Amino acid sequence: MRASEKVQCDRLWDRLMEMAQIGATQKGGVNRQALTPEDAKARRKLADWAYERGFAVFQDAIGNMFVRRSGTDDGLPPVTTGSHLDTQPTGGKFDGAFGVLAGFEALEALEDAGVKTRHPVEVVAWTNEEGARFPSTAMGSAVTTGKITLGEALRKTDPDGIVLADALAEVMAATSELEMRDLGAAMHAYVEAHIEQGPVLVSADEVIGAVTSVQSMFGFQVDFFGEEAHAGTTPRANRSDAVLAAVETISTLEAEATDDADALRFTVGRIIVSPGAPNTVPSHAHFTIDLRHPDDEEIARMTDLIETLPIKIASKRKCRATVQRTSEVPVTEFDPEVVALVDQVRQDLGLRGRRMPSGAGHDAMYVAPTAPTGMIFVPCIGGISHNEAEDARPEDLADGARVLVDCLAELAR
Ligand code: HGY
Ligand code: MN
Ligand code: MN
Repeated sequence: MRASEKVQCDRLWDRLMEMAQIGATQKGGVNRQALTPEDAKARRKLADWAYERGFAVFQDAIGNMFVRRSGTDDGLPPVTTGSHLDTQPTGGKFDGAFGVLAGFEALEALEDAGVKTRHPVEVVAWTNEEGARFPSTAMGSAVTTGKITLGEALRKTDPDGIVLADALAEVMAATSELEMRDLGAAMHAYVEAHIEQGPVLVSADEVIGAVTSVQSMFGFQVDFFGEEAHAGTTPRANRSDAVLAAVETISTLEAEATDDADALRFTVGRIIVSPGAPNTVPSHAHFTIDLRHPDDEEIARMTDLIETLPIKIASKRKCRATVQRTSEVPVTEFDPEVVALVDQVRQDLGLRGRRMPSGAGHDAMYVAPTAPTGMIFVPCIGGISHNEAEDARPEDLADGARVLVDCLAELAR
């Protein structure tokens, strides 16, 4: 029997709706930011669900959580699926949670179908994929695959100055009974299910994307330091105005990032100004840049500009500037055999779909260089995501879980 026959649409949907209650917002979205008490509650819930089905649960030093279904040859590295439980501040019910709970549904379907796999199969909930609170996205997978060190991650601070190590300790205490696992544990293969978060599948009226690659994704923090002065008495020539330096930089970069193909993605998502008094010339302006493109050369051109322009503008405006990279992931190509498997299983199950690149970043970016990796996309309504209105059709999500479990069963055979 194919395990996909045992995927239950309602069971998956009910778990998603229950998980979405943790950090639920007035507008129907979810605010469950990384390493908050809500994140701890979500991890606790996943562990409790796992125990009900007799699965083992582990965590590692950066808080990644692994739900394991044993294989007949249990010493082999696991075939892994999963995604993240943390969300954007104005996030939705499905970004991340769908990948974790579709993975959990896959384990349940394997159990219910009595399918034995040689390799163990595991679902991972990666720590801090969004990078919305603590900078650097896909942090849990970046640490476990050695892209950044544990120490670097632990030292990150959020906008309120809270150190990641302290927030992590609190969250891990909520699942303190879990057995610890070393960082860098090998995976035999990795397949992540995720909503597309874009318009392609919806506009083509298709259900399954066999993801071929993830575009390049770079993150920066830019700081301008000027000098506080009286807004009424200080002549322009005497001002070191950090905000005006930031504004000039952002508009110059935006002009450079405006390509005819509309392929370059340039986003300033956060600007923090201090002291923030209307009648004091601001001495500090901090802003983030999220930069993406399907090819690395274009990213290199813009990166060079981002790392040099602020210094030039700062000296012209008698300020000082610093630029820091918070994440840098080149274009990720997924394993052709895994991509082909996803596309083949989709066709076996009679589902409409296509091969396609990913515009959004995912933990699979960091896993890909360490194990054969692929992703499965399902449509979300209107392609809307990173927005409280994010929504999806239960049957599409169940179809994604069906493709996922048959891929996992094949890879773990
Ligand atoms: O930003 C991203 O691409 C991911 O959704 N966190
Ligand atoms: Mn995501
Ligand atoms: Mn996201």
